[in-house]
Parts: sequence; C-alpha cells; structure tokens
Amino acid sequence: MGNKKLDKIVTTLRSIVLQDQSNNIFDSKCVNGLNFENNKVHFTLELLPEQLKEAQQIKNFIQEKLLSIKQVDKVEIILTAHNIKKENKNSQNAPLRPAKYIIAVASGKGGVGKSTTAINVALSLLKLEYNVGILDADIYGPSLPKLTGISNKPKSNGKKIVPHNAFGLQAMSIGYLVPEDAATIWRGPMVMRAVEQLLRDVDWQNLDILIIDMPPGTGDAQLTLSQRVKLAGAIIVSTPQDLSLIDARKGLNMFKKVNVPILGIIENMSYFQCTKCDTKHEIFGNGGAKAEAQKLGVPFLNEIPLDISLRTSSDDGNPVVHKEPNSFISQKYMEIGSQIIKTIELSEKLSPRIIQ
Ligand SMILES: Nc1ncnc2c1ncn2[C@@H]1O[C@H](COP(=O)(O)OP(=O)(O)OP(=O)(O)O)[C@@H](O)[C@H]1O
Ligand SMILES: [Mg+2]
Repeated sequence: MGNKKLDKIVTTLRSIVLQDQSNNIFDSKCVNGLNFENNKVHFTLELLPEQLKEAQQIKNFIQEKLLSIKQVDKVEIILTAHNIKKENKNSQNAPLRPAKYIIAVASGKGGVGKSTTAINVALSLLKLEYNVGILDADIYGPSLPKLTGISNKPKSNGKKIVPHNAFGLQAMSIGYLVPEDAATIWRGPMVMRAVEQLLRDVDWQNLDILIIDMPPGTGDAQLTLSQRVKLAGAIIVSTPQDLSLIDARKGLNMFKKVNVPILGIIENMSYFQCTKCDTKHEIFGNGGAKAEAQKLGVPFLNEIPLDISLRTSSDDGNPVVHKEPNSFISQKYMEIGSQIIKTIELSEKLSPRIIQ
C-alpha cells in the first residue's frame, strides 16, 4: 500500500455508496484485502444478504469505475456475504429480516379467503421467478397443512427448523409443529412467542419475498408481527359485504398506525360467474372494495370471483395457481403478483450510485 496509484483506487472506492447505505463501501469496511500489483486490483467485497440479488450489477459498476483509472488493467473482486449474526449478537430486539421483502396478507375478520389468497399470490410470485416463502402465522387456525397437502413434521438441521418445500415455496406453519387444536388454548404472550419463533428459528433460505398469512383481526399477534419485522407492505383481503369492509378498514388502520404501506385491497368472492346461464351474479353486491380503496387512496389489486375450482383445489391441497396455472382465476393472481412486484420494486430499488 502507500503508493499513489493505490490512493487513487481508495479515493474511487470512497466515492461509491450503495443504495440504502449511509457510508461508502471503503469506509464501511465492505472492502477487505485491497491489493494492487502488476496493474491488477484485487479485493473482497462484503455484501448484505439483501444486496446479493444485485451482486453482479454492483460488481460490474465498481469494476468499471476502477478500470477507468490509468494503469489499472484488471480488477478482481471476490464477493462474500456479510455475516449478520456477528453484528446482532446482542440485539434480540433487532428487526427480524427473514426475507428481502416481507408482505403480510391480512383481513379484519376471518373466513374471507385470506389463506387462499396468500398461497395463490405466493405461487404467482414464484412463477415470476422470485425465491418465495410462505409463513402461516395464523396460530389459532393454521391453513397451510391443508392448502399444501403436507402434514408431517419438518426436520431440524441441528440449529434451525427446515421449512417444507410446497410446490417450490418454502413453507412453514404452526400446524406442521403442533397437533391440531393445541394452539387454540394459547394465550397472548405464547402466541407472540410462537410467531417470533417461526420467523427466527426457521432456516429460510435466501428469500426474496416472504408472504405471511396473518391471523384474522387486529389483535396482539398482528401488532407484534407488524412491529417485529420490517414489512414491505400489507395486502388486505375483503369480501364485498359492508360488514367485511368495516373490518377491512380496521386492518388498514392498524397497518397505518405502525407505518406499513398498504400494497392494495383484493375483493374476494366478488361475484359468481355462472357457466350455465353465462351471467355474472353479484351475490353480495359488487364494487364495494374498489370504491373503498379509491376513497382511502390505496390501490385496488383485483377482484376474485366465487369459483368452485378455487375451493376444491384448495381443499385438495393443490392450489389453483399450481394446479391450473393458465386458468382465468390463476391469471388474476398473476396480475396481482406483477402489481405487487411493481409496487415494492418502486419503493425500494437497490442500485449502486456515486457521490462526488
Ligand atoms: N374466491 C373463492 N371462491 C370459492 N371459494 C373460496 C374463495 N375464496 C376462498 N374460498 C373458500 O372459502 C373458505 C375460506 O377461505 P380461507 O380459508 O382462505 O379464508 P381465511 O380468511 O383464511 O379464513 P380463516 O379466517 O379461517 O383463516 C375455504 O374453504 C376456501 O376454499
Ligand atoms: Mg386462514
């Protein structure tokens, strides 16, 4: 070190700040083992887990900058993943980050199709080639064992619980761990601990997106979750009835209180398309959720009709987006998936930027 050329290299590295970071890559100690010999720069670059998806782009960007220095002919960057555990040893209360983006699927009341929506939206994101997990946080009434057709206990790798693989999704539910009905006698603090454990002690692998099927309502478990993880946003599921919309509004307000963006409202069981008489029967009255979304200034994601194949596929443990990916209903979920990606990419895009 110490020669002029190396100074120039350090100055260049100091001018690069990755998005969402407050310091440049050199002073934040991301660059290790910097070496310049025979016109070749060599170092290792430590990236945060959430930066890994953009790793190649970041690497190319830095290489290009360094190659513009005279006498630098070659740049060799070895990428390593930053060990978060090292830093968080004493921080039990640090926000949990099992995935790059965590999205809650919620509703103000039960039985509106939250779990059905959660798994089919998760599958749509998987089809868009993201690495997706689904966490059934509905401690009192877990649905994932039925929806995935899996009921056996997950294995442990000695340190953590290994999530099940359901159609390519990393899937975890309290229902895989305890006998049915056991959770119904749990009280508040136990519920919260169970939810935290599912986030912390499960070996989620390199997730881009984790979909959380929230427990219905706006009680303790929901609040804990919204505070313990950094949610990228929430999706509210509602049926068109007025009552359900009042409940949906409660859900919206809860997320607003804890500053979680609302990605949108989905109106489920919106109408019934009769194949016999080819008519759209608007059983509960239609358009309530759309009007409500407009009034509240939140996006309206889509309307999903009452559909027999949606129910039977869920009951059979083979959700419709997996079973019939090209069906009309699956297309609707694909539209929702694309819309979500558009929204979260817009609000939190990672790209290298330069300061002078
Ligand atoms: N659009 C739909 N068309 C037909 N059946 C549906 C539709 N959406 C959900 N269902 C069915 O309605 C029932 C309730 O749905 P689901 O379990 O997804 O609701 P939930 O809000 O998660 O309920 P809970 O509060 O009990 O967790 C299920 O049998 C499901 O298959
Ligand atoms: Mg459910």
